Amino acid sequence: MHDKKGSFFFLAFLNGLQRRIIYLFTGTIPGEDNKKELPEKQGNAEKKEGENTVDAKKDLAHKKEKKEETKIVDTDYWWCFEGYPATELPVFEILSDDRVAEELRRKLEADEFPVIEIPENVMRTMQILNKHEFDYNEVIDLVRRSPAMVGEFIKVINSSLYSRGVVINDLRVALPRLGKENIKALLYMYSSKMTFSTDMLFNDLAVDIVEHCYATALISSYLAQIYYPDPDGAFLAGLMHDIGKLGILKALTDTYEFPTHVDFEMTEDLFDKVFPELHERAGSYLATHWKVNETIISAIQHHHDFNDYDFTLDGELARQLSALINLSDIMARIMGKGRRIDAVNIFDTPAAKMLGFEKDHETVKFLENIPEIVYLKSAEREQNAKKK
Ligand SMILES: [Fe+2]
Ligand SMILES: [Fe+2]
Repeated sequence: MHDKKGSFFFLAFLNGLQRRIIYLFTGTIPGEDNKKELPEKQGNAEKKEGENTVDAKKDLAHKKEKKEETKIVDTDYWWCFEGYPATELPVFEILSDDRVAEELRRKLEADEFPVIEIPENVMRTMQILNKHEFDYNEVIDLVRRSPAMVGEFIKVINSSLYSRGVVINDLRVALPRLGKENIKALLYMYSSKMTFSTDMLFNDLAVDIVEHCYATALISSYLAQIYYPDPDGAFLAGLMHDIGKLGILKALTDTYEFPTHVDFEMTEDLFDKVFPELHERAGSYLATHWKVNETIISAIQHHHDFNDYDFTLDGELARQLSALINLSDIMARIMGKGRRIDAVNIFDTPAAKMLGFEKDHETVKFLENIPEIVYLKSAEREQNAKKK
């Protein structure tokens, strides 16, 4: 995971260096809007209307020429990614057995899939949040009884998606700012992660899955500024989109006997037989059980098959949100947050096409902020976690 992040930022650094060198020689930075404003026209007031129109046309032609000069070169940018090298995976017998996936599928169909238990104290908080009208002080009182949970909320609120540059250590400020739905989503994620806190084999993997979900949530809420009408809903869907993977881990540990230690790293790639096929269904199963909003459930269920699924009943917003989560997931993985990814160009993905991404300078500028958002926010999170 750290190696992936390291190589991503090394490549980003090389790209940056290359662009600065080009700037030294040419005075323009590829991809950046280097349009220089045309000099102020003298004596405009005296000009007639017709002359102004001719000037405007010249302006346009000039701007067009300038744009062509600073043509977007895909390989200069993080969103055109060459992929992480494939590594040879060890054989993990239980996970290589087809009957394991079959049994999980059967449990989902028969409504026998285990739900992740929400601890008593979290459940009480959830009940208050589910009331039509509630007092944040009641929620704060309950959250305060669990120092680890307080830490979790403070980490998120200071993750600058919400912090607006000021460090907040007070739940009375933090919770209302997060809002009811995000508090609930964080409580579900927190409970799911805690299920594995004493599991020697799966704890690190569970933490990695949650970190991937968190990076996806940051990206989807950022992209929603342009490509989806509800950034909060996008954050929530991003946060919960792979919750089914934690559900599957829980179902596996309930049913099978696993060793407590293995001499290789437990990565998501080892779960290729069970995760890709089942995690969306397991996720929507859990989210339905937790009474999450229907559009979010639909995005959890269809964040991989949005292109083939008929959203007639789920609605246009569900389709858009599913595509947005799919794209944010790819971006998070490019940045080393999540499972390995092959070569990809964001603009060629079905999700970017569905959302209407256009490869122009404005979009490129917008996308250029994403690595910093993910990297800095994650670093802040890690730092805050160490302080706790
Ligand atoms: Fe997924
Ligand atoms: Fe994902």
